[in-house]
Amino acid sequence: MEEGTAHVGIEEIHQTLAACGQAHLLTFWDELDAAQREALLDDLNRVDFEQVACLIPTHVLAVPEAAAQHPIEPPDVVRLGPGSRERIEAAEAGARMVAAGQVAALVVAGGQGTRLGYDGPKGMFPISPVRNKSLFQLFAEAIQSAQRRYGGTVPWYIMTSDLNDAPTREYFAANNYFGLRPENVVFFTQGMMPALGADGRILLDQKHRVAMSPDGHGGTLRALATTGVLHDMARRGIEAISYFQVDNPLVRPVDPVFLGLHRSTGSQLSSITVTKADDLEKVGNFARVGGRTCVIEYSDLPEELARARNADGSRRLNYGSIAIHVFARSFVEQLTENIHAMKLPWHRAMKKVPYVDLESGERIEPVSPNAVKLEMFVFDALPLADRTLILEARRAEVFSPVKNATGVDSAESARRDLTARAAAWLESCGVKVPLRPDGQVDATLEISPLFALDREELAERLAKKPTIRPRDALYLE
Ligand code: UD1
Repeated sequence: MEEGTAHVGIEEIHQTLAACGQAHLLTFWDELDAAQREALLDDLNRVDFEQVACLIPTHVLAVPEAAAQHPIEPPDVVRLGPGSRERIEAAEAGARMVAAGQVAALVVAGGQGTRLGYDGPKGMFPISPVRNKSLFQLFAEAIQSAQRRYGGTVPWYIMTSDLNDAPTREYFAANNYFGLRPENVVFFTQGMMPALGADGRILLDQKHRVAMSPDGHGGTLRALATTGVLHDMARRGIEAISYFQVDNPLVRPVDPVFLGLHRSTGSQLSSITVTKADDLEKVGNFARVGGRTCVIEYSDLPEELARARNADGSRRLNYGSIAIHVFARSFVEQLTENIHAMKLPWHRAMKKVPYVDLESGERIEPVSPNAVKLEMFVFDALPLADRTLILEARRAEVFSPVKNATGVDSAESARRDLTARAAAWLESCGVKVPLRPDGQVDATLEISPLFALDREELAERLAKKPTIRPRDALYLE
């Protein structure tokens, strides 16, 4: 969806820049050709200079003060036993929501994916263990499968950024939207924020380009409103938005139990949690602060709190955020009603950002962090909700992110976890799975979302039990 922005000309921009101490951005104007001037004007038109000016004293020249000091308490978490009446009722309620066309899926895929070192939109990264399907294809198939299983249409909203919008759209078009109807796959682009030097001056990436990066996944909320996606959702009768990150191949984009419980508890913003793998795991931590639910990012949690124990020895803050949420559409509308008054805080990070030296005109590749990047985080909407829900899930069923090139949270660990989940489902259907002496599955297994979305569906569809020999590759579709 496109934003209708009015283009402001050079005279007006010049005045704005001068008024907010950013006139240096036009240092090289006289040397630029027509196309370069156009590109620079385009960049400048995207910057909300008023907002940036407000943030400089608090977030660039200073480090923002921590919010008012309330004790950090463990959150309330709901668990639904397997086969319990509550779980069955929630699943039925969720399935009815999908059948009634009230559910949309939303993936945030605007990030840079720098740690993975993959040159392209992260969603195109090949991940499934046997067929090498991409993250996007797995999500598309899961959505298609949910539509088939529950009835109803689940429109899929894909948030990109200027960094990857065009290749993402081309990829879907070239692959026939992986079987989804193109009108139900809706791309929208998040906002960008300029990078600032330590002195509060916005950096030039080139003489005719401002150094910009996406405004964080918190930008989803703003983009939903400004690009017209929220209207599109309202027009389609969407009530619940199933939100997930592009990096998690185990996610269930349409989870009826989670959706049903979100609805029946009247929650405005719901989250899935898994218990933390270790004290310092790099995930957000669910907590209650001042009577509100929130997520405290691992980097903001004091180590002594991360390691704190209850009297029985269990971890005090034990609930990790895996960035899977359901938003009530009405809640997003409420948050974005007055976009300038939206209360998501900005987070500052010092990063290495290449820039053009204003004296010499040379482009400098810094060796140490030289710039402040500002981002919003979507989970900061939690304390703004009056009614929240945190549902516990089993990590092996729902979470194995692809973040790094090797080691923890890498493609290798995600493929291993996809195989392990398939093995667990197959074993629950009475299939014997070969194991190595260390207990790892000694085969490569892939269950297409088009074949089964969970172990119950696998049990229904598995007419004949497959025989799996050591080191076999098995693909079920
Ligand atoms: C994130 C969460 C962390 C959570 C973990 C689970 C933050 C700050 N932390 O960590 O609490 O436990 O995931 O895996 O988010 N994205 C955009 N636009 C942006 C920035 C990011 O769409 O401007 C998307 C990325 O494409 C990706 C997701 O958001 O899908 C996560 O971004 P990333 O920066 O990789 O977060 P993490 O630090 O891995």
